[in-house]
Amino acid sequence: MRSSTSTGYSLAALALSSLVVAASNGTNDYPPTYPLSTDPGFASEFVVALQNSLTGGADIGPVLGAVKNIKPGDMDSYHEEFYRLANATKAQAEDPQNSYDPVNVRDTWFSASQYYRRADVYIHRNWSDPLIQTVWNEQTAAFDKAIAALPIPGQRLQIPSPEGNFTVEAIWYSASRNPHAKLPTMIVGNGFDAAQEDSYHYYCAAALARGWNCITYEGPGQNTVRRTQGLGFIPEWELVATPVVDYVLLAKKQVVDENRLVLVGNSMGGYFAARAAAFEPRLSAAVLIGGVWDTYEGYISPLPKELLAVYEAGNYTQFDEQILALRDAESEAFSTEAKWGLDYGLWAFKTHSPSEFYSQTKRYRIEDVVHQIDMPVFVGDAEFEGIYIGQAKKVSDALGERATYHLFKGVAGYHCQSGAQQEMQRTIFAWLNRVLKA
Ligand SMILES: *[C@@H]1O[C@H](CO)[C@@H](O)[C@H](O)[C@H]1NC(C)=O
Ligand SMILES: *[C@@H]1O[C@H](CO)[C@@H](O)[C@H](O)[C@H]1NC(C)=O
Ligand SMILES: *[C@@H]1O[C@H](CO)[C@@H](O)[C@H](O)[C@H]1NC(C)=O
Ligand SMILES: *[C@@H]1O[C@H](CO)[C@@H](O)[C@H](O)[C@H]1NC(C)=O
Ligand SMILES: *[C@@H]1O[C@H](CO)[C@@H](O)[C@H](O)[C@H]1NC(C)=O
Repeated sequence: MRSSTSTGYSLAALALSSLVVAASNGTNDYPPTYPLSTDPGFASEFVVALQNSLTGGADIGPVLGAVKNIKPGDMDSYHEEFYRLANATKAQAEDPQNSYDPVNVRDTWFSASQYYRRADVYIHRNWSDPLIQTVWNEQTAAFDKAIAALPIPGQRLQIPSPEGNFTVEAIWYSASRNPHAKLPTMIVGNGFDAAQEDSYHYYCAAALARGWNCITYEGPGQNTVRRTQGLGFIPEWELVATPVVDYVLLAKKQVVDENRLVLVGNSMGGYFAARAAAFEPRLSAAVLIGGVWDTYEGYISPLPKELLAVYEAGNYTQFDEQILALRDAESEAFSTEAKWGLDYGLWAFKTHSPSEFYSQTKRYRIEDVVHQIDMPVFVGDAEFEGIYIGQAKKVSDALGERATYHLFKGVAGYHCQSGAQQEMQRTIFAWLNRVLKA
């Protein structure tokens, strides 16, 4: 298996996916699961595609069929295969015979939507590529058909952020038809690349099954807001999360138990949620999957020393030229995950300059606000965390008694517990059950 550390410039840190990327922590048991590709980036992404099957968002055979045809290192083939599968699944969803059964409708559209999201992963090098929009429109339309067929239909929302001058995109899921049921409620934010539609599969389906309401949301830099409002990431995440809390406590007052209101952050969302929690005393608890102390530190650490020196010397023109030349080289100078991380990072932070991207990430750190967080915090860590290595422990130490540190190990030890969603979900809900008083 070609390891991502076998090449001269293996910028694993550029692979910032919420879901991909792992690092051996030096044990002989790495990797702890069977890899589905010789390309480590693809191998991780394939697990992402498969794990949605737990909640109706994939079927295993069709995903393995796509996996079979995807050539290691070939981003175009990855895109093509998932696009083809998404189209085929959409055609099944549109079959009139499907429409009489809401479960058929839901599962088929959830799957089509997920496959469209996978078809989007590797197409962000060229911002003018119209597929960035068309594939996303397909994923959104498919997802809307799926949530309309839930037992209680999901509700897409636009929540203004008056101080931020943008609109938060959200989706609300009710756990009960009872208009006065005061239920515990989870607010879920994704991170660098995942979509709020992914958050349904990772958190909301599990929440609804346990009688919790759930709302997902996206701010600047994240999929919908980046596309429709043209905004890159901002570090002041309270401008995004506080309007969502306002909305939940006002518009959903009758159905939300304000003493059991929990903010969840996935991947880089571990930074966003901690930052927002520092400004949001109305939350009852926060869950970080996992803890993020300083994104810059995570992203810069595996840069080759020579390249890092150019950046640190402030020679940004040279740095940008060198790193982009490596990214576009025919050789395998960059691993697939490194290429993806750079492409996606530039797009999501909305800059064509890699040095500008790295400089921006310096503002995404919680040291200055961590003391303001006044609630119980679940701080997840992963044995094979590949990005924010060692950072969850720092977050937990800074929080002291407020933190519950949990290290996910072995087959659950990948970043964001990729492939071990059940273990992640039951660990979170067991903790919430302990710390929240009904
Ligand atoms: C790797 O993780 C295991 C399990 O958490 C831990 O016991 C071990 O010390 C770690 N090894 C290194 C080199 O960090
Ligand atoms: C998927 O469908 C779109 C719209 O019909 C089409 O343009 C595209 O070529 C299809 N993709 C594949 C891989 O079949
Ligand atoms: C980027 O995509 C646009 C639109 O398809 C195309 O016109 C342009 O040539 C592409 N640029 C590069 C560098 O491939
Ligand atoms: C929002 O817009 C107002 C008026 O244009 C401006 O004063 C303010 O700085 C903007 N806020 C942010 C966070 O951009
Ligand atoms: C930046 O790098 C370029 C290309 O190597 C070099 O010519 C230039 O002198 C460097 N500038 C500084 C300020 O180090």
